[in-house]
Amino acid sequence: MILVFLLFALFPHATGIACQRGLTAVNDQKCLMMNKMELKHLWAENSCAQYGGTLVPIKNAVDNRAVANMAASAGATNIWIGIFCFATGNTTTCYHDDGSGTISYNNFASGNPAVQNGGCVYMSVTGQSAGQWVSGNCEVSLPFVCESPTTVADPSCKLNYNGYCYLRSHEIPSTSNITTFTKAQAICQANGGFLLSLHSKPEIDYVRNIYKNTRYSSIFLGAQKFLPNTFDWDDESNWDYDYTDPLSKTKGDCLLMTLPSFKDQTAGLWSRTNCSFKYPFMCKRKILEPTAVRSLKPVQLKETSIEKTVYHSQKNLPHRQELVDFSNCNTTLYMAPGTITSYGYPNIKPPVTYCTWTVATLGPYQLGVYFTDFSVSKSVYLYDEHGNQLGNPSGNQSPFRVLGPSNIVKITHDSSYDAVYGYHGFSATLLPF
Ligand SMILES: *[C@@H]1O[C@H](CO)[C@@H](O)[C@H](O)[C@H]1NC(C)=O
Ligand SMILES: *[C@@H]1O[C@H](CO)[C@@H](O)[C@H](O)[C@H]1NC(C)=O
Ligand SMILES: *[C@@H]1O[C@H](CO)[C@@H](O)[C@H](O)[C@H]1NC(C)=O
Ligand SMILES: *[C@@H]1O[C@H](CO)[C@@H](O)[C@H](O)[C@H]1NC(C)=O
Repeated sequence: MILVFLLFALFPHATGIACQRGLTAVNDQKCLMMNKMELKHLWAENSCAQYGGTLVPIKNAVDNRAVANMAASAGATNIWIGIFCFATGNTTTCYHDDGSGTISYNNFASGNPAVQNGGCVYMSVTGQSAGQWVSGNCEVSLPFVCESPTTVADPSCKLNYNGYCYLRSHEIPSTSNITTFTKAQAICQANGGFLLSLHSKPEIDYVRNIYKNTRYSSIFLGAQKFLPNTFDWDDESNWDYDYTDPLSKTKGDCLLMTLPSFKDQTAGLWSRTNCSFKYPFMCKRKILEPTAVRSLKPVQLKETSIEKTVYHSQKNLPHRQELVDFSNCNTTLYMAPGTITSYGYPNIKPPVTYCTWTVATLGPYQLGVYFTDFSVSKSVYLYDEHGNQLGNPSGNQSPFRVLGPSNIVKITHDSSYDAVYGYHGFSATLLPF
């Protein structure tokens, strides 16, 4: 026992980080993958999403060098990286693809970011400018480097992601591939885990990809209603990412996630279901680090406040009445997920004004605009980032959605005749897909 411990003590990095198959551990800190195939930016992102990752969001000079070296040894000239900028000459509107916010480190070549050339960012790999970042047209095809979260090695785990082991119901021996929520819950606990909880878009993408070639159209999530319109996770993790389908009308105290076999671009959205119905499910178990390693690196236990967040529902709009204006009218950059409304909504006599919104999501995604309530006199106009019209809905309409071709959508609304003709405005939920 002491001997074993000493061995670990002598080689504290012996275990190191673990990466999914296909990705390489770099600097014992990151899991990266060089992809030589030249793809348009969105396709490159979709490729990285299969691993629950994004294009590499470079955050310091050491990583910048590592990525440049990796690309250079693969013979690349330029590669897509995981940064997206919304404004020229100002890095405060450049975001990391992985959802970690705006960039602090940057290595832009002078005159960049220059979003007139495109919001996407590539790294020049050869010559004088090697390692420098340049704004580029997202429609250009380039090789790319993906990054996916590091994980913890566990030889017994087939689907290992971000420190957790994922197990599909049909892979659990002597288990029916579909069952009720309560039984699924018990099966997962018997297997040392909990029913699936989800905490980011990359994690949703990872799970979607796992089911890509199965016949299942949806799985149970490990969430249950505990108050009207409020769900929480069975594993007591925070409700920190909400991907409920804003247009879903189903009822019930449990949640389902739709899967790609459903042939829907927006597969992955969550909707309610009756807990006593039977569905396939997925278990998620935290992989414990080997004891010897843990005794070397004491784990910082986070104090988790279990925030219970309100489930979106088009019929229940809490707090709206108390606030003067929830519209985000005239915002030049509003980042999804979130909500915009017509000015003064839900006032039944909307004030007369003209509003524009530029709504966006991170570089890896397309933006979905889900109108959950819609009642306007003059058309609401929706445009893509190049000014092509995506739609001009008007009148009273039941909930519908407009899916953007990229991560930026521009919306305009003139409420001049809304109050006069008895229209009450609109509310739209914004989600990446
Ligand atoms: C960059 O943008 C931020 C926020 O939009 C603004 O406060 C800042 O002054 C801008 N900086 C430059 C150099 O334009
Ligand atoms: C569940 O398993 C049974 C038997 O293995 C199979 O016939 C059935 O099609 C499966 N159900 C689904 C939804 O795949
Ligand atoms: C769920 O389904 C069961 C059986 O089909 C039914 O008895 C029950 O009323 C349903 N519950 C809800 C909340 O709809
Ligand atoms: C939004 O901007 C337009 C054009 O600049 C302006 O006419 C309008 O009054 C603004 N609306 C609000 C609610 O501030």
